[in-house]
Amino acid sequence: MSSTQASKTAEIAAAVRAAHRRYDHPVVFDDPHALALTSPAWRAIVRSRVLHRLVVRRLLADFRSIHAEMLGRARFAEEELLRAVAGGLGQYVIIGAGLDSFALRHRELAPQLRVFELDHPASQAVKIERLAKITTEPLAHVEFIAADLEHETVATALARSGYDRGAPAFFAWLGNTYYLTPEAIAGTLRGIAGLAAPGSELVLDYALPVEQQPPEERRAFLKAQAAVERRGEPWRAFFTPPQFARLARECGFELMATLSPAEQLQRYFSGRSDGLRPPAWGHFAHLRLMRWQTVP
Ligand SMILES: C[S@@+](CC[C@H](N)C(=O)[O-])C[C@H]1O[C@@H](n2cnc3c(N)ncnc32)[C@H](O)[C@@H]1O
Repeated sequence: MSSTQASKTAEIAAAVRAAHRRYDHPVVFDDPHALALTSPAWRAIVRSRVLHRLVVRRLLADFRSIHAEMLGRARFAEEELLRAVAGGLGQYVIIGAGLDSFALRHRELAPQLRVFELDHPASQAVKIERLAKITTEPLAHVEFIAADLEHETVATALARSGYDRGAPAFFAWLGNTYYLTPEAIAGTLRGIAGLAAPGSELVLDYALPVEQQPPEERRAFLKAQAAVERRGEPWRAFFTPPQFARLARECGFELMATLSPAEQLQRYFSGRSDGLRPPAWGHFAHLRLMRWQTVP
């Protein structure tokens, strides 16, 4: 992404969450702060039923399944996170957080959960500015760490914060991997494995190569790919599930759970009459840091 401009795809993801809450039923992922966090232009579109129908449902109709992917990944990650927190885990690191509003929505967890939001400086500055307008109560349980992850690692960024390397953490890395090269993804996974304490977990989503997708879905995927490229945030990495499982293992993680598009459809989107369903390319994975066997 551009070194000076806030992420446009993060704006879109927040607008999608805002529109979903307002116009879709049933709600898959409920984000009451998304509207206030997205850009003024997107806010105007989402607020107006007519504009929403024209822009989101007509002009962007080909992207509807991507919207489902954004909602499904957020739901999956937070379900797994809340399970881990209930089990005693006390640190949550959101990599490429964008306009994620977890910290606002779950203030009740403040005493037991510290939240670390890592994002590109340009995106994070905009978010902090908007947060200041939404809430006057300080988010004392959150640390914002500005980091260009093309030029530094998650570990060096976290070293500037109160992150406790001795305690396990839950990492969310959503809507990010496909913008990186496979080498950068492996580097980040190895970096997390190197810095995180035993018991740490990670949830992420990744994209299936176009040739592995059903032919009827490829047109929409290629159109979306061209659109993000025009916005300066091209998709660069794709994996089949066996390739991803191998990469995760090589980087020090065991695969705890995966959610294929068909499983996402069944778990989060079944019985809907509005056609909202996930695309065939988005896979979700829940990883746990491997316990290395020590040789006696
Ligand atoms: C598609 S948004 C995803 C936002 C959020 N995680 C979600 O799921 O809605 C991608 C995020 O990655 C961040 N990002 C992209 N390139 C980055 C970089 N080089 N360093 C740090 N963050 C970056 C952007 O700022 C943006 O917040």
